[in-house]
Amino acid sequence: MEILPTFIYILLFLCGLLTYFLSKKQKRNLKQRAKLPPGSMGWPYIGETLQLYSQDPNVFFAIKQKRYGDIFKTHILGCPCIMLASPEATRFVLVTQAHLFKPTYPKSKEKMIGPSALFFHQGEYHTHLRKLVQSSLSPETIRKLIPDIEAMAISALDSWAGRQVINTFHEMKKFSFKVGILSVFGQLDGKYWEELKENYCIVDKGYNSFPTNLPGTSYNKAILARKRLNQILIEIICESKEKRLLEKDLVGHLLSFKDQKGQLLTEDQIADNIIGVLFAAQDTTASVLSWILKYLNDDQKLLEAVKAEQKTIYELNNEGKQRLTWTQTRNMPLTFRVILESLRMASIISFTFREAVVDVEYEGYLIPKGWKVMPLFRNIHHNPEFFTEPQNFDPSRFEVPPKPNTFMPFGNGVHACPGNELAKLEMLILIHHLVTKFRWEVVGSQSGIEYGPFPVPQNGLPARFWKETSTQEMCL
Ligand code: HEM
Repeated sequence: MEILPTFIYILLFLCGLLTYFLSKKQKRNLKQRAKLPPGSMGWPYIGETLQLYSQDPNVFFAIKQKRYGDIFKTHILGCPCIMLASPEATRFVLVTQAHLFKPTYPKSKEKMIGPSALFFHQGEYHTHLRKLVQSSLSPETIRKLIPDIEAMAISALDSWAGRQVINTFHEMKKFSFKVGILSVFGQLDGKYWEELKENYCIVDKGYNSFPTNLPGTSYNKAILARKRLNQILIEIICESKEKRLLEKDLVGHLLSFKDQKGQLLTEDQIADNIIGVLFAAQDTTASVLSWILKYLNDDQKLLEAVKAEQKTIYELNNEGKQRLTWTQTRNMPLTFRVILESLRMASIISFTFREAVVDVEYEGYLIPKGWKVMPLFRNIHHNPEFFTEPQNFDPSRFEVPPKPNTFMPFGNGVHACPGNELAKLEMLILIHHLVTKFRWEVVGSQSGIEYGPFPVPQNGLPARFWKETSTQEMCL
Protein backbone atom coordinates (compact mmCIF):
# COMPACT_ATOMS: atom_id res chain seq x y z
CA MET A 1 0.00 0.00 0.00
CA GLU A 2 2.87 2.37 0.80
CA ILE A 3 4.68 1.59 -2.43
CA LEU A 4 2.00 3.23 -4.58
CA PRO A 5 2.46 6.88 -3.43
CA THR A 6 6.27 6.52 -3.61
CA PHE A 7 5.91 5.18 -7.14
CA ILE A 8 3.66 8.11 -8.11
CA TYR A 9 6.19 10.60 -6.68
CA ILE A 10 9.02 8.99 -8.63
CA LEU A 11 6.91 9.01 -11.79
CA LEU A 12 6.02 12.69 -11.34
CA PHE A 13 9.66 13.54 -10.68
CA LEU A 14 10.77 11.70 -13.82
CA CYS A 15 8.04 13.42 -15.90
CA GLY A 16 9.19 16.82 -14.60
CA LEU A 17 12.80 16.00 -15.42
CA LEU A 18 11.85 14.86 -18.91
CA THR A 19 9.80 18.00 -19.59
CA TYR A 20 12.70 20.14 -18.37
CA PHE A 21 15.23 18.46 -20.67
CA LEU A 22 12.84 18.43 -23.63
CA SER A 23 12.09 22.14 -23.29
CA LYS A 24 15.86 22.86 -22.93
CA LYS A 25 16.49 20.83 -26.09
CA GLN A 26 13.68 22.60 -27.89
CA LYS A 27 15.15 25.96 -26.90
CA ARG A 28 18.59 24.86 -28.09
CA ASN A 29 17.05 23.66 -31.35
CA LEU A 30 15.23 26.96 -31.79
CA LYS A 31 18.44 28.89 -31.20
CA GLN A 32 20.29 26.66 -33.73
CA ARG A 33 17.47 26.75 -36.29
CA ALA A 34 16.43 30.39 -36.16
CA LYS A 35 18.71 33.38 -36.62
CA LEU A 36 18.38 36.96 -35.48
CA PRO A 37 16.87 39.33 -38.05
CA PRO A 38 19.24 41.57 -40.04
CA GLY A 39 20.12 45.02 -38.73
CA SER A 40 22.79 46.78 -36.75
CA MET A 41 23.13 47.05 -32.98
CA GLY A 42 25.23 50.26 -33.02
CA TRP A 43 27.68 51.15 -30.25
CA PRO A 44 28.08 49.19 -27.02
CA TYR A 45 25.50 50.33 -24.41
CA ILE A 46 24.06 53.27 -26.35
CA GLY A 47 23.28 51.19 -29.43
CA GLU A 48 21.58 53.38 -32.03
CA THR A 49 19.81 55.69 -29.57
CA LEU A 50 21.66 58.78 -30.85
CA GLN A 51 20.83 58.04 -34.49
CA LEU A 52 17.15 57.61 -33.50
CA TYR A 53 16.87 60.82 -31.50
CA SER A 54 19.07 63.06 -33.66
CA GLN A 55 16.54 62.92 -36.50
CA ASP A 56 12.84 62.43 -37.12
CA PRO A 57 12.28 58.90 -35.68
CA ASN A 58 10.16 58.04 -38.68
CA VAL A 59 13.06 58.74 -41.01
CA PHE A 60 15.22 56.42 -38.88
CA PHE A 61 12.68 53.60 -39.17
CA ALA A 62 12.08 54.20 -42.89
CA ILE A 63 15.83 54.08 -43.70
CA LYS A 64 16.21 50.85 -41.72
CA GLN A 65 13.21 49.26 -43.41
CA LYS A 66 14.60 50.15 -46.83
CA ARG A 67 18.00 48.67 -45.94
CA TYR A 68 16.98 45.52 -44.05
CA GLY A 69 13.36 44.76 -44.97
CA ASP A 70 10.23 44.51 -42.84
CA ILE A 71 11.87 42.82 -39.84
CA PHE A 72 15.11 44.19 -38.44
CA LYS A 73 17.03 44.41 -35.20
CA THR A 74 18.50 47.43 -33.46
CA HIS A 75 19.49 48.57 -29.96
CA ILE A 76 17.90 51.64 -28.43
CA LEU A 77 17.59 53.12 -24.94
CA GLY A 78 19.66 50.30 -23.53
CA CYS A 79 17.47 47.53 -24.97
CA PRO A 80 17.93 45.13 -27.86
CA CYS A 81 14.86 45.50 -30.10
CA ILE A 82 13.23 43.88 -33.07
CA MET A 83 11.19 46.18 -35.27
CA LEU A 84 8.29 44.91 -37.33
CA ALA A 85 6.98 46.76 -40.34
CA SER A 86 4.79 44.06 -41.89
CA PRO A 87 1.06 43.65 -41.19
CA GLU A 88 1.47 39.88 -40.69
CA ALA A 89 4.31 40.21 -38.16
CA THR A 90 2.36 42.90 -36.29
CA ARG A 91 -0.68 40.63 -36.14
CA PHE A 92 1.49 37.77 -34.89
CA VAL A 93 2.76 39.86 -31.96
CA LEU A 94 -0.42 41.78 -31.08
CA VAL A 95 -3.14 39.27 -31.89
CA THR A 96 -2.43 35.62 -32.59
CA GLN A 97 0.58 35.13 -30.25
CA ALA A 98 -0.11 38.06 -27.93
CA HIS A 99 0.44 35.81 -24.88
CA LEU A 100 4.13 35.47 -25.82
CA PHE A 101 4.67 39.23 -25.63
CA LYS A 102 3.98 41.44 -22.63
CA PRO A 103 3.46 45.21 -22.62
CA THR A 104 6.54 47.08 -21.44
CA TYR A 105 7.00 50.69 -20.38
CA PRO A 106 9.84 52.54 -18.64
CA LYS A 107 9.51 52.20 -14.84
CA SER A 108 9.39 56.01 -14.43
CA LYS A 109 6.29 56.22 -16.66
CA GLU A 110 4.64 53.29 -14.90
CA LYS A 111 5.17 54.99 -11.54
CA MET A 112 3.71 58.26 -12.81
CA ILE A 113 0.52 56.80 -14.28
CA GLY A 114 0.11 54.12 -11.64
CA PRO A 115 1.39 50.52 -11.79
CA SER A 116 -2.11 49.01 -11.64
CA ALA A 117 -3.33 50.75 -14.82
CA LEU A 118 -4.53 48.20 -17.34
CA PHE A 119 -2.02 48.85 -20.13
CA PHE A 120 0.87 47.57 -18.00
CA HIS A 121 -0.81 44.20 -17.47
CA GLN A 122 -1.52 40.92 -19.18
CA GLY A 123 -3.65 37.90 -18.32
CA GLU A 124 -6.64 37.72 -15.98
CA TYR A 125 -6.28 41.12 -14.26
CA HIS A 126 -5.99 42.83 -17.65
CA THR A 127 -8.98 40.93 -19.09
CA HIS A 128 -11.21 41.90 -16.13
CA LEU A 129 -10.24 45.55 -16.19
CA ARG A 130 -10.47 45.79 -19.93
CA LYS A 131 -14.08 44.56 -19.82
CA LEU A 132 -14.92 47.34 -17.36
CA VAL A 133 -13.20 50.03 -19.41
CA GLN A 134 -14.73 48.72 -22.62
CA SER A 135 -18.26 48.73 -21.28
CA SER A 136 -17.92 52.27 -19.92
CA LEU A 137 -16.76 53.36 -23.40
CA SER A 138 -19.16 51.23 -25.45
CA PRO A 139 -21.38 52.87 -28.10
CA GLU A 140 -24.46 52.27 -25.86
CA THR A 141 -22.85 54.28 -23.06
CA ILE A 142 -21.14 57.06 -25.00
CA ARG A 143 -24.19 57.88 -27.14
CA LYS A 144 -25.74 59.33 -23.95
CA LEU A 145 -22.79 61.72 -23.65
CA ILE A 146 -23.52 63.52 -26.93
CA PRO A 147 -25.35 66.53 -25.41
CA ASP A 148 -22.56 67.11 -22.89
CA ILE A 149 -19.79 66.69 -25.47
CA GLU A 150 -21.63 69.14 -27.75
CA ALA A 151 -21.87 71.69 -24.94
CA MET A 152 -18.12 71.28 -24.30
CA ALA A 153 -17.28 71.67 -28.01
CA ILE A 154 -19.43 74.80 -28.38
CA SER A 155 -18.04 76.40 -25.24
CA ALA A 156 -14.43 75.66 -26.36
CA LEU A 157 -15.03 77.13 -29.83
CA ASP A 158 -16.79 80.20 -28.41
CA SER A 159 -13.83 80.81 -26.12
CA TRP A 160 -11.37 80.76 -29.06
CA ALA A 161 -13.37 83.06 -31.32
CA GLY A 162 -12.17 86.65 -31.43
CA ARG A 163 -9.10 85.92 -29.29
CA GLN A 164 -5.71 86.82 -30.73
CA VAL A 165 -3.80 83.70 -31.70
CA ILE A 166 -4.43 80.42 -29.89
CA ASN A 167 -2.27 77.32 -29.65
CA THR A 168 -4.64 74.82 -31.24
CA PHE A 169 -3.05 71.78 -29.62
CA HIS A 170 -3.22 73.28 -26.11
CA GLU A 171 -6.86 74.20 -26.57
CA MET A 172 -7.69 70.77 -27.97
CA LYS A 173 -6.03 69.26 -24.89
CA LYS A 174 -8.41 71.20 -22.63
CA PHE A 175 -11.35 69.91 -24.67
CA SER A 176 -10.22 66.26 -24.73
CA PHE A 177 -9.47 66.39 -20.99
CA LYS A 178 -13.02 67.56 -20.26
CA VAL A 179 -14.45 64.77 -22.40
CA GLY A 180 -12.15 62.28 -20.64
CA ILE A 181 -13.39 63.45 -17.22
CA LEU A 182 -16.97 63.15 -18.44
CA SER A 183 -16.46 59.56 -19.57
CA VAL A 184 -14.78 58.61 -16.29
CA PHE A 185 -16.98 60.40 -13.73
CA GLY A 186 -20.11 61.58 -15.52
CA GLN A 187 -20.89 64.91 -13.86
CA LEU A 188 -18.18 66.05 -11.46
CA ASP A 189 -18.44 68.61 -8.67
CA GLY A 190 -16.71 71.94 -9.61
CA LYS A 191 -14.43 71.84 -6.56
CA TYR A 192 -13.02 68.41 -7.48
CA TRP A 193 -12.79 69.37 -11.12
CA GLU A 194 -10.45 72.30 -10.37
CA GLU A 195 -8.26 70.24 -8.02
CA LEU A 196 -8.00 67.40 -10.53
CA LYS A 197 -7.17 69.75 -13.39
CA GLU A 198 -4.48 71.60 -11.45
CA ASN A 199 -2.63 68.49 -10.27
CA TYR A 200 -3.12 66.59 -13.48
CA CYS A 201 -1.43 69.45 -15.41
CA ILE A 202 1.65 69.14 -13.17
CA VAL A 203 1.77 65.38 -13.75
CA ASP A 204 1.36 65.91 -17.48
CA LYS A 205 4.32 68.35 -17.55
CA GLY A 206 6.58 66.02 -15.57
CA TYR A 207 5.62 62.87 -17.47
CA ASN A 208 7.98 63.55 -20.37
CA SER A 209 10.74 65.20 -18.35
CA PHE A 210 14.00 63.51 -17.41
CA PRO A 211 13.20 61.21 -14.44
CA THR A 212 15.42 62.78 -11.76
CA ASN A 213 13.60 62.72 -8.46
CA LEU A 214 15.35 65.74 -6.89
CA PRO A 215 13.41 68.56 -5.21
CA GLY A 216 12.43 71.26 -7.70
CA THR A 217 12.66 69.11 -10.86
CA SER A 218 9.56 68.73 -13.05
CA TYR A 219 9.68 65.00 -12.43
CA ASN A 220 9.69 65.44 -8.65
CA LYS A 221 6.82 67.97 -8.81
CA ALA A 222 4.89 65.52 -10.94
CA ILE A 223 5.44 62.65 -8.49
CA LEU A 224 4.12 64.84 -5.65
CA ALA A 225 1.13 65.96 -7.73
CA ARG A 226 0.43 62.32 -8.59
CA LYS A 227 0.23 61.52 -4.85
CA ARG A 228 -2.23 64.40 -4.36
CA LEU A 229 -4.28 63.11 -7.29
CA ASN A 230 -4.63 59.77 -5.51
CA GLN A 231 -6.00 61.53 -2.42
CA ILE A 232 -8.48 63.59 -4.47
CA LEU A 233 -9.64 60.52 -6.38
CA ILE A 234 -10.10 58.52 -3.17
CA GLU A 235 -12.13 61.40 -1.72
CA ILE A 236 -14.35 61.55 -4.82
CA ILE A 237 -14.88 57.80 -4.76
CA CYS A 238 -15.67 57.63 -1.03
CA GLU A 239 -17.92 60.69 -0.92
CA SER A 240 -20.66 59.28 -3.03
CA LYS A 241 -19.96 55.55 -3.15
CA GLU A 242 -23.62 54.56 -2.90
CA LYS A 243 -24.69 56.80 -5.75
CA ARG A 244 -21.68 55.96 -7.90
CA LEU A 245 -22.28 52.20 -7.67
CA LEU A 246 -25.40 52.69 -9.79
CA GLU A 247 -23.66 54.71 -12.50
CA LYS A 248 -22.62 53.32 -15.87
CA ASP A 249 -19.49 55.50 -16.07
CA LEU A 250 -16.00 54.10 -15.50
CA VAL A 251 -15.90 54.91 -11.77
CA GLY A 252 -19.24 53.13 -11.29
CA HIS A 253 -17.92 50.05 -13.11
CA LEU A 254 -14.64 50.02 -11.19
CA LEU A 255 -16.42 50.35 -7.84
CA SER A 256 -18.88 47.54 -8.48
CA PHE A 257 -16.32 45.05 -9.81
CA LYS A 258 -15.67 41.85 -7.83
CA ASP A 259 -13.28 39.12 -9.00
CA GLN A 260 -14.03 35.36 -8.79
CA LYS A 261 -13.04 35.36 -5.11
CA GLY A 262 -15.42 38.24 -4.42
CA GLN A 263 -12.56 40.73 -3.99
CA LEU A 264 -13.22 44.37 -4.78
CA LEU A 265 -10.59 46.51 -6.49
CA THR A 266 -8.44 48.52 -4.07
CA GLU A 267 -8.62 52.31 -4.01
CA ASP A 268 -5.14 52.47 -5.57
CA GLN A 269 -6.13 50.13 -8.38
CA ILE A 270 -9.17 52.31 -9.10
CA ALA A 271 -7.13 55.54 -8.97
CA ASP A 272 -4.38 54.15 -11.27
CA ASN A 273 -6.94 53.12 -13.84
CA ILE A 274 -8.72 56.47 -13.77
CA ILE A 275 -5.42 58.32 -14.33
CA GLY A 276 -4.50 55.76 -16.99
CA VAL A 277 -7.65 56.38 -19.00
CA LEU A 278 -7.29 60.17 -18.70
CA PHE A 279 -3.70 59.89 -19.93
CA ALA A 280 -4.62 57.65 -22.84
CA ALA A 281 -7.47 59.94 -23.84
CA GLN A 282 -6.02 63.44 -23.76
CA ASP A 283 -2.93 64.04 -25.92
CA THR A 284 -3.87 61.41 -28.47
CA THR A 285 -7.25 62.94 -29.33
CA ALA A 286 -5.92 66.52 -29.10
CA SER A 287 -3.06 65.74 -31.44
CA VAL A 288 -5.33 64.15 -34.07
CA LEU A 289 -7.78 67.07 -33.84
CA SER A 290 -4.92 69.54 -34.42
CA TRP A 291 -3.82 67.59 -37.49
CA ILE A 292 -7.39 67.54 -38.83
CA LEU A 293 -7.55 71.34 -38.62
CA LYS A 294 -4.21 71.59 -40.40
CA TYR A 295 -5.16 69.19 -43.20
CA LEU A 296 -8.51 70.92 -43.75
CA ASN A 297 -6.84 74.33 -43.76
CA ASP A 298 -4.33 73.08 -46.37
CA ASP A 299 -7.12 71.86 -48.68
CA GLN A 300 -9.83 74.51 -48.93
CA LYS A 301 -11.80 72.52 -51.52
CA LEU A 302 -12.03 69.59 -49.14
CA LEU A 303 -13.00 71.96 -46.33
CA GLU A 304 -15.89 73.31 -48.44
CA ALA A 305 -17.10 69.75 -49.10
CA VAL A 306 -16.97 68.93 -45.37
CA LYS A 307 -18.85 72.18 -44.63
CA ALA A 308 -21.53 71.24 -47.16
CA GLU A 309 -21.98 67.83 -45.51
CA GLN A 310 -22.23 69.34 -42.04
CA LYS A 311 -24.48 72.24 -43.10
CA THR A 312 -27.12 69.76 -44.29
CA ILE A 313 -27.27 68.27 -40.78
CA TYR A 314 -27.13 71.73 -39.19
CA GLU A 315 -30.11 72.90 -41.21
CA LEU A 316 -32.05 69.73 -40.43
CA ASN A 317 -31.41 70.49 -36.77
CA ASN A 318 -33.07 73.87 -37.13
CA GLU A 319 -29.83 75.86 -37.50
CA GLY A 320 -28.21 73.98 -34.64
CA LYS A 321 -31.08 74.60 -32.18
CA GLN A 322 -31.72 70.87 -31.91
CA ARG A 323 -29.03 68.58 -30.59
CA LEU A 324 -27.05 66.19 -32.79
CA THR A 325 -28.34 62.64 -32.64
CA TRP A 326 -26.29 59.44 -32.50
CA THR A 327 -27.66 58.47 -35.95
CA GLN A 328 -26.50 61.80 -37.37
CA THR A 329 -22.99 61.29 -36.00
CA ARG A 330 -23.00 57.90 -37.77
CA ASN A 331 -23.99 59.56 -41.02
CA MET A 332 -21.15 61.95 -41.79
CA PRO A 333 -19.30 59.85 -44.41
CA LEU A 334 -16.93 62.51 -45.75
CA THR A 335 -16.07 63.93 -42.31
CA PHE A 336 -15.50 60.39 -41.09
CA ARG A 337 -13.12 59.70 -43.98
CA VAL A 338 -11.24 62.91 -43.16
CA ILE A 339 -10.77 61.59 -39.62
CA LEU A 340 -9.54 58.19 -40.86
CA GLU A 341 -7.13 59.78 -43.33
CA SER A 342 -5.82 62.13 -40.62
CA LEU A 343 -5.25 59.13 -38.34
CA ARG A 344 -3.31 57.44 -41.14
CA MET A 345 -1.31 60.47 -42.27
CA ALA A 346 -0.35 61.66 -38.80
CA SER A 347 -0.06 58.11 -37.31
CA ILE A 348 0.34 59.79 -33.95
CA ILE A 349 1.11 56.46 -32.28
CA SER A 350 3.90 55.53 -34.68
CA PHE A 351 4.72 52.30 -32.88
CA THR A 352 4.18 50.38 -29.68
CA PHE A 353 6.42 48.29 -27.41
CA ARG A 354 6.15 44.68 -26.28
CA GLU A 355 8.68 42.29 -24.71
CA ALA A 356 9.11 38.62 -25.63
CA VAL A 357 8.39 36.48 -22.52
CA VAL A 358 10.05 33.39 -24.08
CA ASP A 359 12.25 32.74 -27.12
CA VAL A 360 9.92 33.04 -30.12
CA GLU A 361 10.41 32.03 -33.73
CA TYR A 362 8.78 34.04 -36.48
CA GLU A 363 9.36 33.30 -40.19
CA GLY A 364 12.70 31.67 -39.43
CA TYR A 365 13.82 34.59 -37.27
CA LEU A 366 14.55 34.32 -33.57
CA ILE A 367 13.01 36.84 -31.18
CA PRO A 368 15.00 36.17 -28.00
CA LYS A 369 13.32 36.23 -24.58
CA GLY A 370 13.60 39.68 -22.99
CA TRP A 371 14.06 41.55 -26.27
CA LYS A 372 11.71 44.43 -27.03
CA VAL A 373 9.47 44.07 -30.05
CA MET A 374 8.12 47.15 -31.80
CA PRO A 375 5.28 46.94 -34.32
CA LEU A 376 5.78 50.03 -36.53
CA PHE A 377 2.24 51.24 -37.30
CA ARG A 378 3.42 54.34 -39.13
CA ASN A 379 5.63 52.43 -41.57
CA ILE A 380 2.67 50.21 -42.45
CA HIS A 381 0.33 53.24 -42.85
CA HIS A 382 2.90 54.86 -45.14
CA ASN A 383 3.75 51.83 -47.24
CA PRO A 384 2.80 52.45 -50.91
CA GLU A 385 1.96 48.77 -51.25
CA PHE A 386 -1.07 49.33 -48.96
CA PHE A 387 -1.81 53.06 -49.47
CA THR A 388 -1.03 54.48 -52.90
CA GLU A 389 0.90 57.77 -52.81
CA PRO A 390 0.95 57.59 -49.02
CA GLN A 391 2.37 61.12 -48.64
CA ASN A 392 -0.84 62.63 -50.13
CA PHE A 393 -3.77 63.50 -47.88
CA ASP A 394 -6.62 61.80 -49.69
CA PRO A 395 -9.73 60.84 -47.66
CA SER A 396 -11.29 59.21 -50.74
CA ARG A 397 -8.90 56.26 -50.32
CA PHE A 398 -11.15 55.16 -47.43
CA GLU A 399 -14.13 54.75 -49.78
CA VAL A 400 -12.70 51.24 -50.07
CA PRO A 401 -11.79 49.54 -46.76
CA PRO A 402 -8.02 49.08 -46.29
CA LYS A 403 -6.54 45.58 -46.50
CA PRO A 404 -6.75 43.64 -43.20
CA ASN A 405 -4.14 44.62 -40.59
CA THR A 406 -2.79 47.54 -42.62
CA PHE A 407 -4.68 50.30 -40.77
CA MET A 408 -4.12 50.27 -37.01
CA PRO A 409 -4.33 53.82 -35.62
CA PHE A 410 -5.95 52.35 -32.50
CA GLY A 411 -3.64 49.33 -32.30
CA ASN A 412 -4.75 45.72 -32.63
CA GLY A 413 -5.54 42.71 -30.46
CA VAL A 414 -5.89 42.44 -26.68
CA HIS A 415 -4.57 45.95 -25.96
CA ALA A 416 -6.31 47.75 -28.87
CA CYS A 417 -7.77 51.12 -27.90
CA PRO A 418 -11.09 50.76 -26.00
CA GLY A 419 -11.61 54.55 -26.35
CA ASN A 420 -11.63 54.60 -30.16
CA GLU A 421 -15.41 55.14 -30.50
CA LEU A 422 -15.35 57.99 -28.00
CA ALA A 423 -12.36 59.59 -29.74
CA LYS A 424 -14.13 59.45 -33.11
CA LEU A 425 -17.38 60.74 -31.62
CA GLU A 426 -15.79 63.78 -30.00
CA MET A 427 -13.87 64.58 -33.18
CA LEU A 428 -17.05 64.39 -35.29
CA ILE A 429 -18.92 66.64 -32.86
CA LEU A 430 -16.17 69.23 -32.69
CA ILE A 431 -15.77 69.32 -36.47
CA HIS A 432 -19.55 69.68 -36.90
CA HIS A 433 -19.70 72.83 -34.76
CA LEU A 434 -16.41 74.18 -36.06
CA VAL A 435 -17.20 74.12 -39.75
CA THR A 436 -20.86 75.15 -39.47
CA LYS A 437 -20.32 78.23 -37.28
CA PHE A 438 -16.67 79.21 -37.35
CA ARG A 439 -13.81 80.12 -39.66
CA TRP A 440 -10.14 79.75 -38.83
CA GLU A 441 -6.82 80.82 -40.20
CA VAL A 442 -3.50 79.17 -39.45
CA VAL A 443 -0.89 81.75 -38.49
CA GLY A 444 2.47 81.52 -40.28
CA SER A 445 3.57 78.76 -42.59
CA GLN A 446 3.34 75.73 -40.36
CA SER A 447 4.82 72.77 -42.13
CA GLY A 448 7.03 71.23 -39.42
CA ILE A 449 6.31 68.61 -36.80
CA GLU A 450 6.96 68.67 -33.08
CA TYR A 451 7.11 65.63 -30.79
CA GLY A 452 5.67 65.95 -27.35
CA PRO A 453 5.96 62.85 -27.51
CA PHE A 454 3.13 62.47 -30.05
CA PRO A 455 3.63 64.31 -33.32
CA VAL A 456 1.85 67.65 -33.35
CA PRO A 457 1.89 70.41 -36.03
CA GLN A 458 4.75 72.85 -35.39
CA ASN A 459 4.18 75.23 -32.45
CA GLY A 460 0.89 73.49 -31.69
CA LEU A 461 -0.66 75.02 -34.85
CA PRO A 462 -1.14 78.69 -33.93
CA ALA A 463 -4.48 79.86 -35.36
CA ARG A 464 -7.17 82.57 -35.21
CA PHE A 465 -10.86 81.72 -34.99
CA TRP A 466 -13.94 83.77 -35.86
CA LYS A 467 -17.60 83.11 -35.41
CA GLU A 468 -19.42 83.27 -38.72
CA THR A 469 -22.42 85.59 -38.72
CA SER A 470 -25.42 83.77 -40.12
CA THR A 471 -27.44 85.36 -42.97
CA GLN A 472 -30.38 85.65 -40.58
CA GLU A 473 -28.33 87.61 -38.03
CA MET A 474 -26.95 89.86 -40.77
CA CYS A 475 -30.50 90.75 -41.99
CA LEU A 476 -31.51 91.69 -38.45
C1 HEM B 1 -7.42 59.60 -31.48
C2 HEM B 1 -7.30 59.21 -30.24
C3 HEM B 1 -6.66 57.93 -29.78
C4 HEM B 1 -5.70 57.15 -30.38
C5 HEM B 1 -5.02 57.38 -31.73
C6 HEM B 1 -5.46 56.01 -29.50
C7 HEM B 1 -4.58 54.98 -29.79
C8 HEM B 1 -4.36 53.89 -28.97
C9 HEM B 1 -3.50 52.78 -29.28
C10 HEM B 1 -2.68 52.62 -30.56
C11 HEM B 1 -3.55 51.91 -28.24
C12 HEM B 1 -2.86 50.56 -28.15
C13 HEM B 1 -1.46 50.69 -27.60
C14 HEM B 1 -0.72 49.38 -27.56
O1 HEM B 1 -1.15 48.38 -28.13
O2 HEM B 1 0.34 49.36 -26.94
C15 HEM B 1 -4.44 52.48 -27.24
C16 HEM B 1 -4.72 51.90 -26.02
C17 HEM B 1 -5.56 52.47 -25.09
N1 HEM B 1 -6.36 53.58 -25.26
FE1 HEM B 1 -6.39 54.80 -26.85
N2 HEM B 1 -6.25 56.14 -28.39
C18 HEM B 1 -7.01 57.28 -28.53
C19 HEM B 1 -7.97 57.75 -27.65
C20 HEM B 1 -8.35 57.14 -26.49
C21 HEM B 1 -9.42 57.57 -25.63
C22 HEM B 1 -10.35 58.75 -25.91
C23 HEM B 1 -9.43 56.72 -24.54
C24 HEM B 1 -10.35 56.69 -23.34
C25 HEM B 1 -11.31 57.52 -23.05
C26 HEM B 1 -8.37 55.76 -24.74
C27 HEM B 1 -8.04 54.74 -23.87
C28 HEM B 1 -7.10 53.77 -24.11
C29 HEM B 1 -6.75 52.73 -23.13
C30 HEM B 1 -7.32 52.58 -21.73
C31 HEM B 1 -5.79 51.91 -23.75
C32 HEM B 1 -5.10 50.69 -23.16
C33 HEM B 1 -5.89 49.43 -23.52
C34 HEM B 1 -5.26 48.14 -23.01
O3 HEM B 1 -4.09 48.11 -22.66
O4 HEM B 1 -5.99 47.14 -22.97
N3 HEM B 1 -7.74 56.03 -25.94
N4 HEM B 1 -4.92 53.68 -27.72
